[in-house]
Amino acid sequence: MNGETRPAGLLVALLAGFAVLAGCGLTPPYRTSPASPSPTGGSSPSARPSTPNRPPDLSESTEFTASGPVPQILDASLVADIVQGVRSDSDSTRHVFASWPQFGNPGVDALIGGYYTDTIHAFDADHPVGQDDPAPELNLGWHLVASSPKAIGIVADGYLFADGETRERWRSFWFDPTSGTALAAAELADPAATNLALADAASAVTGVAEFDLGRAGADPLSAATLVAFGGDGSLLVGYDACGVAACSAGRVTLAVPPATTAGLLTTAGRAAQAATLSPTVPLAAAPSTPDPGQPSVAPTSPKPTGKVNCRKVKCVALTFDDGPGPFTTTLLGHLRKAEVPATFFMLGQQVETYPKAARAVAAAGHEIGVHTWDHRELTRLNAAAVRKEITSSIRIVKQVTGQTPTLFRPPYGSTNPTVAAEAKRDKVAQILWNVDTLDWKSLDSKKVIKATLQQTRRGSIVLLHDIHKTSVAAVPGIIEKLRKKGYTFVTVSQLLGKTKPGRKYFGG
Ligand code: NI
Repeated sequence: MNGETRPAGLLVALLAGFAVLAGCGLTPPYRTSPASPSPTGGSSPSARPSTPNRPPDLSESTEFTASGPVPQILDASLVADIVQGVRSDSDSTRHVFASWPQFGNPGVDALIGGYYTDTIHAFDADHPVGQDDPAPELNLGWHLVASSPKAIGIVADGYLFADGETRERWRSFWFDPTSGTALAAAELADPAATNLALADAASAVTGVAEFDLGRAGADPLSAATLVAFGGDGSLLVGYDACGVAACSAGRVTLAVPPATTAGLLTTAGRAAQAATLSPTVPLAAAPSTPDPGQPSVAPTSPKPTGKVNCRKVKCVALTFDDGPGPFTTTLLGHLRKAEVPATFFMLGQQVETYPKAARAVAAAGHEIGVHTWDHRELTRLNAAAVRKEITSSIRIVKQVTGQTPTLFRPPYGSTNPTVAAEAKRDKVAQILWNVDTLDWKSLDSKKVIKATLQQTRRGSIVLLHDIHKTSVAAVPGIIEKLRKKGYTFVTVSQLLGKTKPGRKYFGG
């Protein structure tokens, strides 16, 4: 998305207008509640009703950023047992973190996965390793916005930092989970009638998010990057930054009020709206039902191997980042068999998607630390945004597992005094590592075992990722070989003893 050139005076006026409207400085866009002009005049995000499926105290961490009303976000565990695609690069010169849902339907999965992989490939092509300074970052996640046997809606929510600029992007995907058919915007709402309603909504917006729908062509509905519903049932049609409004407005949405939607939505569109307002489990025969917050397994305190004196024995701590994910349960089996405790640095968004796995980690007695909500490079964010990343992830870990994390690992190991201060405020120590297996890069179990053996010393903290099958498969070999060398496995807290909030630790 290229920034367009605008007369400087107009841009200044637009920026000033935004600052007044937003009531705050022009900090990098994040999941702040935008006090932006609401085309419908009433549907501000804070006024949205919460649904029973959305844990109420997570509302701050799971909200889109846009000028205009934003889509309702649902508890992703409604569609439990989905497999997730993941791509993670932690090179020091560029950062990629992407995760996306796969529903077991080849056509739908190709459509969704294709969007993510195409976006990553474009980023790779635009930003070769070591070419940019500061390091560019691509961060792509997703949210569930509708769920029923008739309609599933997801919104890919992404963030690109490059050439000193931040750009957010989003893309909605709709499909019928029963028939496996993808649903385009024109299949949800009648284009002609909706475009008229959008023109009406656009004409009512003034200020920074003033619309020029003509830039979207003759069919603004089909040109939209987002079609979803607000918590009040309004039809939301959204565009990436610079699409149909000033770039400074960021991503923008237009809302068609609930009363008007009746005449616009198709049968599939009404099903999509209902799947947002009254979400249900998408498949009648789904093996697992969502449970909004009540642990099915009683959480236990981490007391894996009792007391270990790491001054007397050769201790090593295995740590697993970026999960929980589809392979976490397998990993738990390996650890249980070998009676090895480990430490998991979980992402809030992953705990939200895989609550059962998170609970199983806690129930098995492993230690849980946090790794932010969605794996953002924290040194790019202001203090408030860093705080939100840390507190939201602590909150969901507490809520889902019953454990209160005292450890935090900043994504990419990237930290600064602001991150340290926020960690201190939230009473979590910063846990880095001194054994980098580069498991995400090799994706080769043998190489992961070799790298671990070569680098491990007494007191090492080993960095691994349970989102990769190859890393999980390497664990039995790592345990067997390190044990032969006389190592005792401990959690990070057992290794370090009492840690100081905010302080950085690389090993024992
Ligand atoms: Ni990570």
